[in-house]
Amino acid sequence: MTDKNLLIMDHPLIQHKLSILRDVNTGTKEFKELVDEIATLIAYEATRDLPLAETKVQTPIEVATTKVLAGKKLAVVPILRAGLGMVSGMLNLIPAAKIGHIGLYRDPKTLEPVEYYCKLPSDIEERQIFVVDPMLATGGSASAAIGFIKKHGGKSIKLMCILAAENGIERIQQDHPDVQIYCAAVDERLNDHGYICPGLGDAGDRLFGTL
Ligand code: PRP
Ligand code: URA
Repeated sequence: MTDKNLLIMDHPLIQHKLSILRDVNTGTKEFKELVDEIATLIAYEATRDLPLAETKVQTPIEVATTKVLAGKKLAVVPILRAGLGMVSGMLNLIPAAKIGHIGLYRDPKTLEPVEYYCKLPSDIEERQIFVVDPMLATGGSASAAIGFIKKHGGKSIKLMCILAAENGIERIQQDHPDVQIYCAAVDERLNDHGYICPGLGDAGDRLFGTL
């Protein structure tokens, strides 16, 4: 695995929160809160290169020359279901972003992604897009989702996940070398069911209490 297009967020707050997420004894409410908080912390880094333009603001004292966001409009695209858990954490920092949805589930036998829903902002081709999904395992779901977005015209895409496996990262680097990946940690292997090991289990089930 190379670190090309990959940023591992080793910030102490993220690593601490991830340890609690991994714990089998962490319940749905806390799991959801932690996913939300980690998404905000990753969003802080993933938005670091948003372009700025100079502007002037009248302060109570005098006119200040200052900066505002000036680049493309933004879109957050969660991969259903588990990606939904990262949306509000993203919106804490970029509240004006539009939200697209891509519904995919992994066929439990083949581990191949099956699409059941896709609705994106109509001007997706003009937006900086953040695809969010807590888990990047084989990479099949994220690769397919990014493929759909590109088919709809999306060009500028970043992928934000919480936990990744090396396989998943390699898959995205191979299929979508233009996509920057942000994650909190990389685990080495997948088990026979395609689960990340040691991982944190089934993120969708833990988020929505469907275990
Ligand atoms: C999980 C996860 C990813 C996918 C990752 O979703 O949220 O979307 O698996 O696996 P992959 O990298 O091997 O494709 P799942 O299919 O369990 O659906 P869910 O979010 O509805 O639970
Ligand atoms: N999806 C999950 O929710 N967890 C894994 O470990 C792999 C895929």
